[in-house]
Amino acid sequence: MAEKVVLAYSGGLDTSVAIRWIKEKYNMDVIAVTADVGGDKDLGAVREKALKVGAVKALVIDAREDFVDHFAFPALQADAIYQGVYPLATALSRPLIARLLVDVAEKEGASAVAHGCTGKGNDQVRIDVSVAALAPHLRVIAPAREWGMTREQTIAYAKRHGIPVPVTSASPYSVDQNLWGRSIECGVLEDPWVEPPEDVFAWTASAQNAPDQPRYVEISFEKGIPTSIDGRDMDGISLVQELNEMAGRHGVGRIDHIEDRLVGIKSREIYEAPAAIVLFAAHKALEAMTLARDQLRFKQKVADECADLVYNGLWFSSFHQDLVAYVQSSQRHVTGTVRLKLLKGVCRVVGRKSPYSLYRHALATYDEGDQFDQSASVGFIHIWGLPVKVQAQIQPENKSTL
Ligand code: ARG
Repeated sequence: MAEKVVLAYSGGLDTSVAIRWIKEKYNMDVIAVTADVGGDKDLGAVREKALKVGAVKALVIDAREDFVDHFAFPALQADAIYQGVYPLATALSRPLIARLLVDVAEKEGASAVAHGCTGKGNDQVRIDVSVAALAPHLRVIAPAREWGMTREQTIAYAKRHGIPVPVTSASPYSVDQNLWGRSIECGVLEDPWVEPPEDVFAWTASAQNAPDQPRYVEISFEKGIPTSIDGRDMDGISLVQELNEMAGRHGVGRIDHIEDRLVGIKSREIYEAPAAIVLFAAHKALEAMTLARDQLRFKQKVADECADLVYNGLWFSSFHQDLVAYVQSSQRHVTGTVRLKLLKGVCRVVGRKSPYSLYRHALATYDEGDQFDQSASVGFIHIWGLPVKVQAQIQPENKSTL
């Protein structure tokens, strides 16, 4: 009996060719697994295709709830945004997909898992490292990293073996998408000087074509998790879907980034992430109101560590567990409602409230009812500035640097 391998199957050209190529090269039976992470594809058709091109078995797994609850929302709580701009949609889905591959491999008695990642991206790292953490005995096969075919050669291989070449392969772009965002690479986008043509975008209107009237939206959070839109309680999937549509319609969510891949390459990345952009803005606004200054400063460091770690494929590391513990603790008062204005490509926070708000009107106001004791500032400043004053007297040259 042939050994079995569980392949992460998207239905695209590379993974379709991979099914045939693995049979030829390794003489293994391929079990195709397609994870539904909200990418909006007809997954019934994807499954059929896997079988048609030679998989012995094809599974579609609805992982949307798992993805939102255990990957996207924890990343939101962490404020994990890579290099300050990328909400990590693809990066967050990879450890989940790896875990599904491992689960199926165990159930099916497979000796290997496989994926369609090339040898120059981040995704290969994320999947390989995740598999190594979860099931070190499993072998990982990465056909697109091994076969050394150009895109043209891959298409020729597909045609030779009667593998349908999807219409989307005619598109010059490489796209990956899930509920948390959409990534677009290749074609003219590889010239960082070229503005992305409109046909790159599928989820967002251009600012020009967005409605002239603003859309105000209120998002409520409980312990850092978004729970309602405009007062309507919603499950995570619906909430993210609704915000993707709403913000996308107003042109919010486009990102154009020169990104540093883990493998040392700078690459030009276009993203659409309407819901994520709105939710990060809202979440940060609520934290600004409910966390103390020191907590905010330290949280930002944790956020940067989390983002790098997710980007770099270390989801299943102990370090991640440690950071998650901090993040969870930090969210215990991040409850309240944020009001945002979506207008012509811009998402702006215009209001926030929380039962745990640390903002005290009586302390902040310049009007009637001011309770801040201004006379106390004199003594405070005297002691705060004392070391500067002493040093300036004894080492006066310090002044010349100002
Ligand atoms: N640059 C992004 C990342 O590393 C997006 C990758 C998109 N992946 C893909 N297979 N098209 O997370």
